[in-house]
Amino acid sequence: MSRRKKIYEGKAKILYEGPEPGTIVQYFKDDATAFNAQKKDVIEGKGVLNNRLCEYFMLGLQGVGVPTHFIRRLNMREQLVRSCEIIPLEVIVRNYAAGSMAKRLGMEEGTQLPRPIVEYCLKDDKLGDPLVTEEHIAAFGWASQQDMDDILSLALRVNDFMAGVMYAVGIRLIDFKIEIGRIYDGEYPRLVVADEISPDSCRLWDIETGRKLDKDVFRRDLGSLTDAYSEVARRLGLIPKPSATITKPTLIN
Ligand code: TMP
Ligand code: ASP
Repeated sequence: MSRRKKIYEGKAKILYEGPEPGTIVQYFKDDATAFNAQKKDVIEGKGVLNNRLCEYFMLGLQGVGVPTHFIRRLNMREQLVRSCEIIPLEVIVRNYAAGSMAKRLGMEEGTQLPRPIVEYCLKDDKLGDPLVTEEHIAAFGWASQQDMDDILSLALRVNDFMAGVMYAVGIRLIDFKIEIGRIYDGEYPRLVVADEISPDSCRLWDIETGRKLDKDVFRRDLGSLTDAYSEVARRLGLIPKPSATITKPTLIN
């Protein structure tokens, strides 16, 4: 790892130069942050679980024809991805009211929305990732109208896929955040799902009990984050079902 050139270190991941031009290695750290890094902790095993879960979601998306930056998982904590220009927006899709939208609009968390609602936040930690409208995005040139059409279509396709995958294992997809990258294939740029998709960037509630299986467990001090993420991985068949002999979750390759 130390041989490689570090390109960027974020709150949950480190990016290194990849082995070939146009590639990047994403290393998943165990660090958890919330409220713009005002709350911080190290959660042993989180990076390993997110790396594996992210691989599962990205491969699934590619399987249904949604382009992503993902190339392959390299090891327990790293994945190889295509290098791309990140559009400076956090794209949020909501199916049920929760989090900042529930607070902003005075809605009860868990209220089903009449249709999926897509929101955009400017990716700027210093400003606390403020909500912006398409007017701001167009006026300040953060993305073109064509980009916005493509981003909306990608976001809704990711929502359909993720909601279906989760529903199949008894989990409700409340909302999620994705980031979009621009890749140049020859002359033509195209947009792909980039960054990560994991329980750090989604809200996932058990359908039967309402138990939270996402980063809200950390944000709101609701118990063990690795237990919650392991439960998601276990239901998706990525780690074995609990047995008397296994005390620590072991990832299945
Ligand atoms: P919010 O309700 O706090 O705006 O969050 C909406 C969704 O976006 C939720 O699934 C958590 C995710 N999210 C991130 O991935 N990164 C962030 O920095 C924030 C604030 C939310
Ligand atoms: N990722 C953001 C942070 O560190 C916020 C969050 O996910 O709640 O602070």
